[in-house]
Amino acid sequence: MCLRDERVLLGVSGGIAAYKAAELVRRLRDAGAQVRVVMTEGAKHFITPLTLQALSANPVRDSLWDASAEAAMGHIELARWATRVLIAPASADLLARLAHGHGDDLLSTLVLASTAPLAVAPAMNQQMWAHPATQANIALLRSRGVQVFGPGSGDQACGEVGPGRLLEAAELVAALAGTVRGHAVLAGVRVLITAGPTFEDIDPVRFIGNRSSGKMGFALAAAATAMGAEVTLVAGPVALATPAGVLRQDVRSAAQMLAAVMAALPGQHIYIGAAAVADYTPAQVADKKIKKTAADMAVALARTTDILATVAARSPRPFVVGFAAETHDLEHYARDKLQRKGLDLIAANQVGCAESGFEADCNTLQVFWADGACTLGPDSKVAVAQQLLSLIAQRRAQAGA
Ligand code: CTP
Repeated sequence: MCLRDERVLLGVSGGIAAYKAAELVRRLRDAGAQVRVVMTEGAKHFITPLTLQALSANPVRDSLWDASAEAAMGHIELARWATRVLIAPASADLLARLAHGHGDDLLSTLVLASTAPLAVAPAMNQQMWAHPATQANIALLRSRGVQVFGPGSGDQACGEVGPGRLLEAAELVAALAGTVRGHAVLAGVRVLITAGPTFEDIDPVRFIGNRSSGKMGFALAAAATAMGAEVTLVAGPVALATPAGVLRQDVRSAAQMLAAVMAALPGQHIYIGAAAVADYTPAQVADKKIKKTAADMAVALARTTDILATVAARSPRPFVVGFAAETHDLEHYARDKLQRKGLDLIAANQVGCAESGFEADCNTLQVFWADGACTLGPDSKVAVAQQLLSLIAQRRAQAGA
């Protein structure tokens, strides 16, 4: 993920999520950006300017009327300095003021004075987000080309559940990196992603499943959307919120996943098989609960259809990316899958080590294609997802797809 050469003006407005700005400043700097922070009066009730000053290594500005600050880098100069303006968190009040062109404090004035692309990451109570006034303000901002990152969905500080959470710092950096230099790398590209495990029923109460959490596939869906793609996500049984802007279809079994993928496939430009699809399914599903009788029992299993290989064998076909989870001889097995299944690229991870794999939030991927290879991470699954999508976009362009 790269924000080298970017000068990010980070606006922080008042809301409990303002505490996340500290992590965000760190992440922006890790990605190579220079960061200057501007806070609203409200933001200072939640996080101190000193914290953000220390992390950004630049003075924090909070007032239009600060004579000494104006003597150093005046507000117009600051507006010109920025190559990107990111406001995170953006409160309902700030969104309203931006939508209506107010210039009554430093941050809103800077937004008016800057020609840099503006992105906002809303964070507020879910009722406030759903209110028609907020939705109208967001629609107005979008119609002017403002990027809106999130909000995410889930538990809120106020005890309610729903959309309104600030995206995580890594997601915001990924979203910003995906739209640098004013264009989204995957704009107009349709991406179909599978994620999570599949559950293969034995009888009405038992099934064969696996430990896939779906986090990698969901991170890919969020990153692809942030990079401008139109994303369809076919998800096995997982407990994850749908990333903003993603079209999601839930399935349970490998057979249902195959059917959903085939139905969604026409017109897709990229297919990413991140799901841990069951290789075998019970040959027969009992319609009543199986009672225990003998001392041991065997369940006859039949091979499932390989969805990835089926997609890769279609003509015309999208750019096809597979995943491989290996415990040993990673390159050998990954390259074998690349060739055997006719893939354009394969991302392999080592399972069985603490930082990588199924339930972890962190990941390292070894990526292979016919005449190349590279390593992504170790980093958060979100950051690795963004790097993988940049690589896919690059490889796809080179393949002339
Ligand atoms: N895959 C699929 N359909 C299946 C099985 C797997 O699309 N029925 C896809 C997965 O989404 C993943 C890749 O194939 O992208 C994983 O390959 P797979 O052959 O399932 O790996 P393993 O089962 O781990 O391989 P093996 O047992 O051959 O080592």
